[in-house]
Amino acid sequence: MYGASDPAAAERTAFRRAEKQYKLYKPPNLKGRSRSRSKPAGVEGGGRGDLSAVVDFHALLAADGELPAGIGRRDCAGFDRPVFCFLDRPGFYFIPGALSTEEQCYWIRESLKTFPQPPNRTNLTAIYGSISDLFIAAKNQKILVQVENPDVQERNERNNGGGKTQSKIFKFVEASDVQKGEECRSTTATALVRKLRWSTLGLQFDWSKRNYDVSLPHNKISDPLASLAKNMAIPAMPSGEEFKPEAAIVNYYGPSDMLGGHVDDMEADWTKPIVSISLGCKCIFLLGGKTRDEVPTAMFLRSGDIVLMAGEARERFHGVPRIFTESDQQEISAVVSQLSGEEDCFILDYIKDSRININIRQVY
Ligand code: OGA
Ligand code: MN
Repeated sequence: MYGASDPAAAERTAFRRAEKQYKLYKPPNLKGRSRSRSKPAGVEGGGRGDLSAVVDFHALLAADGELPAGIGRRDCAGFDRPVFCFLDRPGFYFIPGALSTEEQCYWIRESLKTFPQPPNRTNLTAIYGSISDLFIAAKNQKILVQVENPDVQERNERNNGGGKTQSKIFKFVEASDVQKGEECRSTTATALVRKLRWSTLGLQFDWSKRNYDVSLPHNKISDPLASLAKNMAIPAMPSGEEFKPEAAIVNYYGPSDMLGGHVDDMEADWTKPIVSISLGCKCIFLLGGKTRDEVPTAMFLRSGDIVLMAGEARERFHGVPRIFTESDQQEISAVVSQLSGEEDCFILDYIKDSRININIRQVY
């Protein structure tokens, strides 16, 4: 992912110092961590760090009072949800609780079952080739093994082999069918789901070139996702124009994953927003300046929140230094109880310590 940081540069800028501060944050009530006899001052509960500067838009909404300096509400004709903004950061909008619990569960399921399906590419594609039905394989406890490609064997038999087809491919088999000696080259489908870091929808983003590769096969963004994005983009759209969802990047965050500070600059028209949906565990999002030297503003993103970044806000560094997986901090009880009755206990298990972000873009 972006922002692979040079350790020597780790603390050189205000953005990196903030990333480090929140990455290292430890909640005060983690069992077994509060016993230390020589607690440093200011960490009474045994925690490390401080979240007092993190903007909490849900708390502001619930308090329904005067807003802190620098934070405003955006009133937008034809959009009936509360929308917050920063007065000195035009183009950034925060829609707290934009999705109902049912909608959150629907998009969590889609993110795991449908979004990683070919022709969409994922971080696993470069290693294993195209993998179909990863989620079903995980549910059925299948194993991914490397086998001879039957197409190549057949070609060799016809004595005209040597084309571009891979001689080995990966496929799912039953655990009982894994041959002796093959175990070391095999991976459980469940482990692979946990290794998902991103998938790309619509026009495929090529991470190596950091650009969209329009020659790659792709499906259009599905109608339900496109209509959600169009509706939610309204507060950030130039008046009279409609957002065209052409691509999306889905990020999957495990317990210690982060997304380093970056700017998304591969889309042609920056007056159009990126529509960014949060699902699963709570995280800290940093919104910085046009360079990493500006001190970023930290805010909580929770499941169901939507952020819009358009215009000037698109030039700002941003990232996710930390997600909260501790059961008293993850704040996904509504999603957990909704998913508890479900046959896919796998989804519940996954989301309890993961965060998913779907960010939808107009490319042209
Ligand atoms: C991105 C991004 C933010 C998030 O993928 O470009 O900024 O909330 N994601 O995960
Ligand atoms: Mn981004």
